[in-house]
Amino acid sequence: MSFVQSATLGQELSEKELLDLLFRYNIKIASERRLDRLLVLMADLGRRLVVADRCSLWLLDEDKGELWTKVAHGVAELRMPYDCGLVGHCIASGESILVDDVYNNPHFNREMDALNSYKTQAVLVIPIRNNEGKVMGAYQAVNKLTQAAKFSAKDLEHLTLIATYSGKSLETAMLLKEIEDTQREIIFTMSEVGEMRSKETGNHVMRVAQYCYLLAQYHGLAPDECELLRMAAPMHDIGKIGIPDSILKKPGKLTVDEFEVMKTHSMLGYEMLKNSRRPILKAAAIVAKEHHEKYDGTGYPNGSKGDEIHIYGRICAIADVFDALACERVYKKAWPLDKVLDLFRNEKNKHFDGCLVDLMFEHLPEFEEIGRLYKDH
Ligand code: C2E
Ligand code: SIN
Ligand code: SIN
Ligand code: SIN
Ligand code: FE
Ligand code: FE
Repeated sequence: MSFVQSATLGQELSEKELLDLLFRYNIKIASERRLDRLLVLMADLGRRLVVADRCSLWLLDEDKGELWTKVAHGVAELRMPYDCGLVGHCIASGESILVDDVYNNPHFNREMDALNSYKTQAVLVIPIRNNEGKVMGAYQAVNKLTQAAKFSAKDLEHLTLIATYSGKSLETAMLLKEIEDTQREIIFTMSEVGEMRSKETGNHVMRVAQYCYLLAQYHGLAPDECELLRMAAPMHDIGKIGIPDSILKKPGKLTVDEFEVMKTHSMLGYEMLKNSRRPILKAAAIVAKEHHEKYDGTGYPNGSKGDEIHIYGRICAIADVFDALACERVYKKAWPLDKVLDLFRNEKNKHFDGCLVDLMFEHLPEFEEIGRLYKDH
């Protein structure tokens, strides 16, 4: 029972506590549409309901042959092979598993404990089914935190109850995630088409997306807006699709006339995207139109200034120029970092929103890390 040394023992819930808990979580679960947050909510509810030390909800990813879960918001997802351990066995057989001491059970995977410096003892696993009755995942509770130190038939019943109740929310959230993943894939593919023509790599759009995400977070935008901007930012130059090769791929400096043509890429992008009702594409339309506006009003296409420029546009301007300067283009060599930073110091409150420039300097190591992570080859 080594695990109990670090965990505090608790009591079984009274009927009233149980109802309270179910009632409060039911409201949250029914209104949560984001899959990752739903998984965390359901894990919390499960853990408190059966007084377990840990609880997670594993979902089957059939494409990858894996099970995955999210244990806490903001923490990366965990993955394991679909046939791994007791959870894998539960999903394969479609039957609940209640074990008092897993070290006597042939399906238990001891490596996991060794890996996590954890001692698993009592385990409860129940399958989760979709509307058609097909197993889509499993609820797993680990280590009972009462004196008895084992899960009861009642615990099994309670966990099954919330699995059944939450199945619909879970399916809806999974469907929504599927749609969003598809949208994301299409957006990245579309963006890469635009960038490939100007010989920029897919890594450019990825880096710009990540720089935007960092700035959005440090600026204090809501998590949903940060995510929206991250998805939309790759499309900032989508209008370059309409710029002729002779200009787009010109190895040297553009003439004044050529640059006038080039400048139309922001409105071209906006026109392509503006009629969509999808939040991501709406955000992308803003970013496409405004990423070359300047804070002091000397940018294009509208010469908007200051806060007239949408925060997405102000953020993307910094991300785009930071990346354009630091990398090679058909018309220019890559700049060393100190020269890039000099430009940002000089252009603070001229080209760029000074607050955002300060945020960039404050968190420079993270920007550099993104550059390294998505390096061009
Ligand atoms: P881009 O290559 O993605 O560059 C984005 C922005 O980064 C530029 O917007 C500019 O603000 C900044 N930038 C890029 N390179 C330099 C540089 O060498 N010096 C300075 N000070 N800033 C730089 P901008 O100027 O509105 O240009 C928009 C797009 O027009 C560029 O996107 C690029 O595709 C094209 N472009 C601009 N100048 C030239 C050029 O001389 N030759 C060619 N072939 N294309 C150019
Ligand atoms: C995944 O994409 O990781 C699993 C499938 C899903 O959640 O819809
Ligand atoms: C995807 O495959 O979902 C697009 C890449 C990403 O944003 O993770
Ligand atoms: C916003 O939070 O959307 C606007 C903030 C700003 O204008 O800097
Ligand atoms: Fe651009
Ligand atoms: Fe760009």
